[in-house]
Amino acid sequence: MSTTISPSTYVRNLSPGLLRQLADFLDPQEGWKRLAVDIRKASGEPRYTQFHIRRFEGVTQKGKSPTHELLYDWGTTNCTVQDLADLLRRNEFLTAASLFPCETAPRSRCQTLPMDELQTPQTSSKTEHGNPVSESTEPEENDEETSGFGTYSFNQLKRITKDFDDRPLSDGGCKIGEGGFGVVFQGHLKGEKVAVKKLTTMTDASLQELQDQFEQEIKTMARCHHENIVKLLGFSNDGASYCLVYTFMSNGSLLDRLACVNSTAPLSWSRRCNIVLGTARGIKYLHDNNHVHRDIKSANILLDDTFTPKISDFGLARATGHLARTMMTERIVGTTAYMAPEALRGEVTIKSDIFSFGVVLLEIISGLAPFDEDRNPALLLDIKEEIEEEEKTLEEYVDIKMEDAELHVIEKMYCISSQCLNQMKNKRPNINTVYSPLIYTI
Ligand SMILES: Nc1ncnc2c1ncn2[C@@H]1O[C@H](COP(=O)(O)OP(=O)(O)OP(=O)(O)O)[C@@H](O)[C@H]1O
Ligand SMILES: [Mg+2]
Repeated sequence: MSTTISPSTYVRNLSPGLLRQLADFLDPQEGWKRLAVDIRKASGEPRYTQFHIRRFEGVTQKGKSPTHELLYDWGTTNCTVQDLADLLRRNEFLTAASLFPCETAPRSRCQTLPMDELQTPQTSSKTEHGNPVSESTEPEENDEETSGFGTYSFNQLKRITKDFDDRPLSDGGCKIGEGGFGVVFQGHLKGEKVAVKKLTTMTDASLQELQDQFEQEIKTMARCHHENIVKLLGFSNDGASYCLVYTFMSNGSLLDRLACVNSTAPLSWSRRCNIVLGTARGIKYLHDNNHVHRDIKSANILLDDTFTPKISDFGLARATGHLARTMMTERIVGTTAYMAPEALRGEVTIKSDIFSFGVVLLEIISGLAPFDEDRNPALLLDIKEEIEEEEKTLEEYVDIKMEDAELHVIEKMYCISSQCLNQMKNKRPNINTVYSPLIYTI
């Protein structure tokens, strides 16, 4: 043990040698995971979500230590050797704990500042975006980058959503949903129902990230028009929050309809087949136009009044170059339960969308949520391994809520899903090789 460290030494200042010794204890049998789930924010919530944990897991494929990654990240919160020793002892890593000096009585729980609280606070002036626009109910036309969209004033959107009333529709409010980057409200514009997404810093997204999402969504939407892509009607950038206005999708998200949220009727097999085909067509359109969506998931597949699927949320999408079809992102984005191994490492390719589509196919077949910590396996994508290893049969996973299920078609769809879920991106099919057999199968 180094003589220079004390209980108050910051974890981020530990020597590489000591970290290596620690990793020797914690890397095997995923001991680091027990620590990761036990680390809390000041609010008492877990600091690390499934998303972060899969990201740490991903580094082993690059020959790196997940323990190092975890401690490096946690170290940014100014946690100390005392915190670390307490954490180790609480999780019964007593030999590892003995590497460090500490006070004998362990403190209750490691409560550390979330990373964003350590960053420079944003000034309030940054919450005002752009120039004020008129308050007329007619949207205004704007420059080429955003041509075809209307600009609405923030106050106008505020009015049509009853001051962004965040009670659910069923309680007389206007809220229809919530995601990682904001809350979605229902409103009426010129007699038509619209969905207004008010971007807010919900999780650990910074204002800069929100602005990037907002601009990306508008740019991508200006270029992508397709029957299976949700329609952006306009936006507002003159108020306290950026807002995006979309056509209202009366049947909500595929995620909610598979789960029969609000007691809606289960989706029939024939309806599910149409949703699969429409979604595949939407992805094909995007990929044919050099766009990687990067967040394909059932919550981003919205259903209109005829249950036609429309892919939404392009904030994460980026146009891919014709030559460089693979790019590394600064920050890993997307939703972990749908993410391909290379996407977890920050690499973006059209093949990551294919992987995510494979998870959506499993959801459609099984009616199960992509992630459920009370289920074994918690990640839906892990049922593939169970089926391959003959621990379970596909039939056991078919959603019993469908009365018109056709097992032979389900088997073919599962087979396509299984190819999409190949761990090796180059072995996954592209969207054309997914789409053609789907049309012939369904
Ligand atoms: N145009 C729309 N019409 C009807 N409902 C919508 C519309 N857009 C979004 N919603 C509803 O709001 C919910 C939240 O959407 P949002 O995109 O904010 O979050 P998410 O897709 O669940 O997660 P993420 O932030 O990762 O995209 C959706 O799941 C859907 O139920
Ligand atoms: Mg979404």
